[in-house]
Amino acid sequence: MTSPTLADYVLRDGVGVPLLLLHAFPFDHRMWAPTVAHLPDGLRVLAVDLPGQGHSDLGGVAASLDAAADAVHATLRAHGEGNVVVAGLSMGGYVALALADRHPDLVHGIGMLDTKTTVDPDEVRTNRLQIARTVEDSQTLDAVMGMPAKVLGPTSHLERRSLYPTVEHWIRSQSPSGIAWAQRAMAARPDRTHVLAEFDGPVAVVVGAEDQITPVQDAKHMVAAARDATLTVVPNAGHLSAVEEPAAVAAALAALHARATRR
Ligand code: MLT
Repeated sequence: MTSPTLADYVLRDGVGVPLLLLHAFPFDHRMWAPTVAHLPDGLRVLAVDLPGQGHSDLGGVAASLDAAADAVHATLRAHGEGNVVVAGLSMGGYVALALADRHPDLVHGIGMLDTKTTVDPDEVRTNRLQIARTVEDSQTLDAVMGMPAKVLGPTSHLERRSLYPTVEHWIRSQSPSGIAWAQRAMAARPDRTHVLAEFDGPVAVVVGAEDQITPVQDAKHMVAAARDATLTVVPNAGHLSAVEEPAAVAAALAALHARATRR
């Protein structure tokens, strides 16, 4: 089996320890553009497309978030990157934790956005595996086209109507094989609460107040588990807080980066 080759991006040029952004499912690096526009000048911002998403391939590797984290690590090392502050939204948060678990020397700070450290209930895992089979059998994305309605909060549905077609467009450009791989990888992920508990750098937990997928309760669980965590509950945002309220999320990420790099 060969490793995935990840498409990687410099979203903003700058100096010093970069901020690495890991996207949600079923998206790619494009979801970070609104947030990056609000980050401070001079902060270097990197992103990748996770395996099978966006312009990244799967390389024939079995579905696992460990493989995703190892591919991120290999990509950064290939570019000579030393350390990063990593922030991931939802699936990106699962991969950020896997990265901190498997490559602790790389990670100086962790941003956990609209995500959680715990495993899925059985029915969620079963549903993921069913979606994986359905998208492969049908070779369509129909099984995930209901997601824009769920990932955007009620305020976005009412007041930011242009986000729905944007999010839909991002999903439509993914591939059935990538969707299936990511669903199987997320279904197989272990509980990684211990990673936050053992991490000795700063953690920023961010959650949309209207997030129904990984609600505020999951965020509070992470804050309680971590040694040094802040909590930002973003008003008027759902599960895609970084897209819905990018200025608030950028402020939390900039503060995390400052805490991580002045140690
Ligand atoms: C995501 O936004 O990445 C997904 O909701 C993650 C998941 O399905 O657990």
